[in-house]
Amino acid sequence: MRVVVTGATGGIGERISRRLAESGHSVIMVGRSAERIDRARGRIAEAVPGADLAGEVSDLSLTAEVRALAERLEPLPDVVINNAAVIAPLDAVTGEGRQLMLATNHLAPYVLLRILAQRLGDRPARFVIVGAHPGGLRRTPVDLDDLEFRNRRTLGPVPSFRPFVAYGRTKNMNAMFGYALAARLADTMITVNGGHPGIVDQTGLGRNCIGLLRLFTTMINPFAQSLDEGSDTPFWLATAPEPAGQTGRYYLRRQAVPTAPHTTDPARLYRLWDESAALVGLPADVS
Ligand SMILES: NC(=O)c1ccc[n+]([C@@H]2O[C@H](COP(=O)([O-])OP(=O)(O)OC[C@H]3O[C@@H](n4cnc5c(N)ncnc54)[C@H](OP(=O)(O)O)[C@@H]3O)[C@@H](O)[C@H]2O)c1
Repeated sequence: MRVVVTGATGGIGERISRRLAESGHSVIMVGRSAERIDRARGRIAEAVPGADLAGEVSDLSLTAEVRALAERLEPLPDVVINNAAVIAPLDAVTGEGRQLMLATNHLAPYVLLRILAQRLGDRPARFVIVGAHPGGLRRTPVDLDDLEFRNRRTLGPVPSFRPFVAYGRTKNMNAMFGYALAARLADTMITVNGGHPGIVDQTGLGRNCIGLLRLFTTMINPFAQSLDEGSDTPFWLATAPEPAGQTGRYYLRRQAVPTAPHTTDPARLYRLWDESAALVGLPADVS
């Protein structure tokens, strides 16, 4: 199979890529730096002689670059694993003027998967969206009136923790978008599923965390899982026979689990879909 993995230059995405290569799949590793893609490819090639690896440079925080990536991928992939995400300061803004976490974590998969679905048409494919722990996310519902986290006070009383709460909202957007896209693609052969990788401390995700949040991420280290464990559910969703044909689900340790009611409410799904379409300049309607 031909599998696209975003955020493949390190952490969980690199390990997913390596496991795919070990299983004989062709992997297209997406990253924002050609140098970091080459380094990750080199590490995988060393561990997996004969690995079939290609690189695609795309800064996923920029809608124009995501769009160009989605339009140039050829041949079309059999699987897309949307894995890239950041925890970034609230005032970090992209070159297109969007809040960085909203753009990277939510708008990028929104644009990439919508355009690829259109290009795939009647062909079969699996889309996997790497989310976060459904239990933890219950406490960070998406504020549909404030997608760019401008109202800081609603993000909690501790300033250093607020980026983590905003990140949690973007991970809820992942779940919501997954459900909404699966529903719109119900008549196609494309499946869309989300999943939590697990808490993994050997990654770069916490690199921008400061203050109490940095302390918190250190405290959860003893409970952390390995990269192999963290990459397991996304890898399984992408390749295993069991989830074939399943769509619109959310997985934790290979089991379909419910997510919070605020991620499944149809009116909220429509609203997020339409607001996101307006932000990235895609039509809300999918035909
Ligand atoms: N680690 C955990 O405990 C945990 C828990 C729950 C969910 N997750 C989820 O697991 C996924 C992977 O996280 P991780 O822990 O492996 O983090 P990570 O090590 O920081 O990896 C994130 C990847 O995304 C890439 N990326 C970030 N911004 C990008 C951009 N603008 N354009 C292109 N690529 C970009 C990074 O590339 P660069 O090399 O260029 O930075 C890196 O390859 C994320 O979706 C995260 O939300 C992780």
